[in-house]
Amino acid sequence: MRLYTKYIKKYGVVFCVSLFFLTLEAVCDLLQPTIMSRIVDVGVAQRDLNYVLSTGGLMLGVTAIGAVAATMRNLLSTYVSQNFGAQLRSDLFKKVQSLSFENIDRFDRASLVTRLTNDVNQVQVFVNGMMRIFVKAPLTCIGGLIMATQLNPRLAVVLAVVVPIVGLFIYLNMKIGFPFFMKVQQSLDRVNGVMREYLSGVRVVKAFNRFDFEVDKFSHANEELQTKSISATRVMSIFSPAIMLTVNLGIVAVLWMGGLAAEQGDMQVGHIIAFTNYMTQILFSLMMISMVFNMFVRAKASAGRIGEVFAEENRMTWKEQESLRGDGKGRIDFEHVSFSYEGGHGESVLKDITFSCLPGETVGIIGSTGSGKSSLVGLIPRFYDATKGTVRVDGVDVREVDPKLLREKMAIVPQKTVLFTGTVKENIRWGKDEATDEEMELAARMAQAHDFIERTPDGYQARVGQGGINFSGGQKQRLSIARALVRKPEILILDDSTSAVDVATETKIKEALREYAQGLTCLLIAQRITSVMDADKIVVLDQGELVGIGTHESLLKDCRVYQEIFQSQIGKEVQ
Ligand code: GTP
Ligand code: MG
Repeated sequence: MRLYTKYIKKYGVVFCVSLFFLTLEAVCDLLQPTIMSRIVDVGVAQRDLNYVLSTGGLMLGVTAIGAVAATMRNLLSTYVSQNFGAQLRSDLFKKVQSLSFENIDRFDRASLVTRLTNDVNQVQVFVNGMMRIFVKAPLTCIGGLIMATQLNPRLAVVLAVVVPIVGLFIYLNMKIGFPFFMKVQQSLDRVNGVMREYLSGVRVVKAFNRFDFEVDKFSHANEELQTKSISATRVMSIFSPAIMLTVNLGIVAVLWMGGLAAEQGDMQVGHIIAFTNYMTQILFSLMMISMVFNMFVRAKASAGRIGEVFAEENRMTWKEQESLRGDGKGRIDFEHVSFSYEGGHGESVLKDITFSCLPGETVGIIGSTGSGKSSLVGLIPRFYDATKGTVRVDGVDVREVDPKLLREKMAIVPQKTVLFTGTVKENIRWGKDEATDEEMELAARMAQAHDFIERTPDGYQARVGQGGINFSGGQKQRLSIARALVRKPEILILDDSTSAVDVATETKIKEALREYAQGLTCLLIAQRITSVMDADKIVVLDQGELVGIGTHESLLKDCRVYQEIFQSQIGKEVQ
């Protein structure tokens, strides 16, 4: 609830104004049966046409005021709920962005999407509903009870029986419905998850002819959602008719009691009509209340899930005042670093790693797949925190600096290339907003991307589809290298970034980099030994352990793992 104080403050005034209109509307509604009973009991009974006309005019006026009030609160409630929804969604998005990888790993990605869309929507619908009916319904209900009792205390006995029964139904409805809606939400997550996975792997699914399998998987998730939704609705569907039945029985009782009394001459017809009118109003408002409670149940489940994201404390802390020393010039030190995923509870991925990259050095990192290379470099921009030991950049512990400052110093070409929807130019500029066209072109030339970009009809203005779908693997990698180079970082991290590029092009990129990398610390992860051979220093990883460090020649002499890699790659070519 505390989370929403901010929004209450922001929209509180408009909210209250809309409540004012709502109250006005409810009062108008409540006045009508009484006015009508007068018309019947006085005007019609005494055949006084003037009274009928003047009181009828009053009734029209009251209805008109009610209609204006209803229009106003509709306009206001739409304004508030839409703005609130947009704001909440944007705050949630910002929160997700601010979280560290470790935090995000704890949520299923698909569930984050449903939280941002469906859950926010549910809360928004509730806010809208609350402003339209939530206050009006109890108002009409209580007002109706008072007016009806005043009109005829004898008939009010029926109300004393009907209202508690209906109240009980509403309570049960809420109590039983809540867990069901939680389950519906979880099933929706699963449907989204399956869909997302299918879409991101659609080519593989088709290539392996696993279409039926995926359809089955989807149907399974979909059916689960269906059954869960049906059982949730089933619970709900018992209560609404039960409420309706109870109130209708009440109306029958009023007509019966009123009829008996009228026969004996101690009740007026107008009173009976007005009383049943109030009963219907009370019925409707009670139905509304149960409907709003249904909305509330759903919104509560959704709000809880949104709250979970907001409540996720970013585990990454730092000292505000600490800044990186400018004279370090991109030095990186690993001191007895151990690391495991899942907040340090997972399997050990890196074990007691110690080495340094001096400013301006190019350090190659090699090791078999799964040996922890990507995990190792992920600690430098502080994607994750080391479980033990310290990672230092420019001599400062990365845990003490604002990650923003830290990341400003470096550029990373991730192993899995990520491009964004937009133009080629926008994608390269993404590395540095203020880059000039010349700088951008230079970066593209160094990454050997300029030629193929120029060859496309639109050149730098060519569209990039979602995830770079319209570019080949090697082209994507080169665009992603250009994006990093345009940044002119002090530390450049290339994670297997030329794996999809042919050897001739790779050589050209390396030559361009060598010139560019003067004075720049460069970490180069590679599978091919030829990619790292001429680095100043090569780090060899094996199952998370550092098993060798040195130049190509020295490692060839005394590092067994390096020798094996060399044998398997170069040795074969020689044979
Ligand atoms: P290649 O890129 O294939 O050459 O491997 P790598 O040397 O870069 O290995 P990486 O650092 O990606 O992975 C090392 C180990 O960490 C592997 O055993 C993975 O199972 C594990 N791992 C990698 N990423 C994650 C992650 O995001 N979460 C969890 N829980 N484990 C991970
Ligand atoms: Mg990797």
